[in-house]
Amino acid sequence: MILNTLKKASLAALATGVLSFTASAGEVEVLHWWTSGGEAKSVAVLKQLLEKDGHTWKDFAVAGGGGESAMTVLKSRVVSGKPPTAAQIKGPSIQEWGDEGVVANLDSVANAAGWDELLPKVVSDVMKYDGNYVAVPVNVHRVNWMWVNPEVFEKAGAKIPSTWDGFVEAAEKIKAAGFIPVAHGGQAWQDSTTFESLALAIGGSQFYNDAFVKLDPKALNSPTMVKVFEALRTVKKYTDKDAPGRDWNLATAMVIQGKAAMQFMGDWAKGEFTAAGKKPGTDYICMAFPGTRGKFTFNIDSFVMFDVGGGDAKKAQDAMARTIMEPKFQEIFNLNKGSIPARLNMPRDKFDICAHQSMDEFVGSSKTGDLVPSMAHGMSTFAAVQGAIYDTVTAFYNSDMSAQEAAQKLVSAVQSSM
Ligand code: GAL
Repeated sequence: MILNTLKKASLAALATGVLSFTASAGEVEVLHWWTSGGEAKSVAVLKQLLEKDGHTWKDFAVAGGGGESAMTVLKSRVVSGKPPTAAQIKGPSIQEWGDEGVVANLDSVANAAGWDELLPKVVSDVMKYDGNYVAVPVNVHRVNWMWVNPEVFEKAGAKIPSTWDGFVEAAEKIKAAGFIPVAHGGQAWQDSTTFESLALAIGGSQFYNDAFVKLDPKALNSPTMVKVFEALRTVKKYTDKDAPGRDWNLATAMVIQGKAAMQFMGDWAKGEFTAAGKKPGTDYICMAFPGTRGKFTFNIDSFVMFDVGGGDAKKAQDAMARTIMEPKFQEIFNLNKGSIPARLNMPRDKFDICAHQSMDEFVGSSKTGDLVPSMAHGMSTFAAVQGAIYDTVTAFYNSDMSAQEAAQKLVSAVQSSM
């Protein structure tokens, strides 16, 4: 399903004996899309730890939040028989890469360190293909966050909203006071990031799962979904005219600099506040997306390892897998990244109030059925379905299409992508 041509091309490459690997002795080539300030600081942690162990890091960064461009580049590399050592691949897509027969088996590293005991089952299940570990998780991001500049709210005399109605009321006041209420970047993945939070707020967790996990046409084209689209249009009203095409980290900068009051974004945004030396609770405030308190849209970043044969390349790859799961990496990386460790029972003391809230709600939401996979970040469906949802949401966002029409289109787009 990733690419029908991928299988054919890689089989052809194998048959003609041209399958080769770029990783030389002790080198790891790592494909990722972490190029913003906070992201780059985070990935540098892994580089440093591996270099300290004598391995060489070959950076393969493909810019573009959400990773669409990175995935396109990855496919062409694998098709040409030159997969990197590891690539940032998440969620159900891991199964698709497993189907292609190009992934490595990490069981010896996983068994030696006891990964099954160190990871929540909801995480370890996703990292396995056919019962074997093929990927390693670096974190758990929460997507349904709102990042707030409290000073802007104060200047506008507005109350930080915890409900949808409260949002509209606050946004009106902020606009009237001459600030931009919502910092947004008009890119498909960002439109869908806001859209899925609205779906969770307006429809609740069951509706969210019916729509984005089960892909139930009755949920996709429902009066609730119409309301979600209408709400998305309302959010757009409170963004600025320069939003189209803007990168997410530049939107975060608008909140940091007090030009905008809030941003709806996953907690990688916190990485930008941290890199700028800002403190949560005083300089900025993290709150659940209005109407989603106690609910948690998860986005787990992970690295899939590709089959690099044996020798030093495999040794370096295993070292990377081992290092990622070690407490030291899980702590420093996540302090920079804004996420929480994927590994269980980590000390909490170095983490801030936003991370504590995330840790508590991750556990709490899993008990109430409110822990849901992020559609916009590739956790709930295969990439083709996600792409179909992106296209519909963005087409709606950038036109005067009615919310009813958008809900109808959502069903046909999803069905034709399967
Ligand atoms: C997400 C990814 C995050 C963050 C974000 C923006 O898909 O999971 O780690 O980097 O994109 O680039």
